[in-house]
Amino acid sequence: MEERARLFVQKHGRKPGLGVLLVGDDAASHVYVNNKMRAAEGAGFYSRTDRLAASSSTDDVLCAVDALNDDPNIDGFIVQLPLPSQVNTQAVLLRIDVKKDADGLHPTNLGAVLMGQGGVQPCTPRGCMRLLAETGIALRGKKAVVIGRSHIVGRPIAAMLLDADATVTLCHSRTQDLATEVAMADVVIAAVGRPGLVRGEWLKPGAIVIDVGINRVGDKLCGDVDFESASQRASFITPVPGGVGPMTIAMLLQNTLELGESKAP
Ligand code: GUN
Repeated sequence: MEERARLFVQKHGRKPGLGVLLVGDDAASHVYVNNKMRAAEGAGFYSRTDRLAASSSTDDVLCAVDALNDDPNIDGFIVQLPLPSQVNTQAVLLRIDVKKDADGLHPTNLGAVLMGQGGVQPCTPRGCMRLLAETGIALRGKKAVVIGRSHIVGRPIAAMLLDADATVTLCHSRTQDLATEVAMADVVIAAVGRPGLVRGEWLKPGAIVIDVGINRVGDKLCGDVDFESASQRASFITPVPGGVGPMTIAMLLQNTLELGESKAP
């Protein structure tokens, strides 16, 4: 990424620029945003973080989005979620310039991804697909079980797995007999936010397991998969922390750089 950022500077006479809008004082969001900005600066990006109070209105947030839309030094930016409950998240995501949507959460980008027609891929799903590619195992015809139906992870990754010709089952909190669904899967992607939900005993031996969950239990972070038991059965498994999280940040930088490169010089 550093090398691509250097080439960008040579070509454009400025660093690639990543912006983040952070509203309120959600402790986890502050940690995520600090990690993202540290990574951006370490990779040779210009970074801009705008912070708004937890009491901000939808209009306040829309104004802050406009400022990032209009900043010529920003190639891509994200609005860290969740937003405080009084803010209309959908209206905010709609306001993001589609060409600066580094998170791929604008409905136009998300719609294109769901339709298999390009669009900026959301960072976590893109990171999961990258991790799957690194295993060297072809997804065509494989059975993938995705647990979690969020707009940010579950739904887009299900679409991306379908595009890779996997047979996809999208499970969620109302799925009956999750263990039976998981037992048939060659690939399991857990993204529900329930610590240790997926047990090693459920897994088909040799399954590939990607754990998107980040749950705080006491003073420790753990995933949606019980790593101890699952690592005995899986052929590949991502740890929490240190698995999908860093990959999501890497994909955020990649999306930002690609948005900058696709702009007219
Ligand atoms: N909150 C938790 N993860 C994410 C993410 O990847 N993007 C945004 N915008 N908010 C998040």
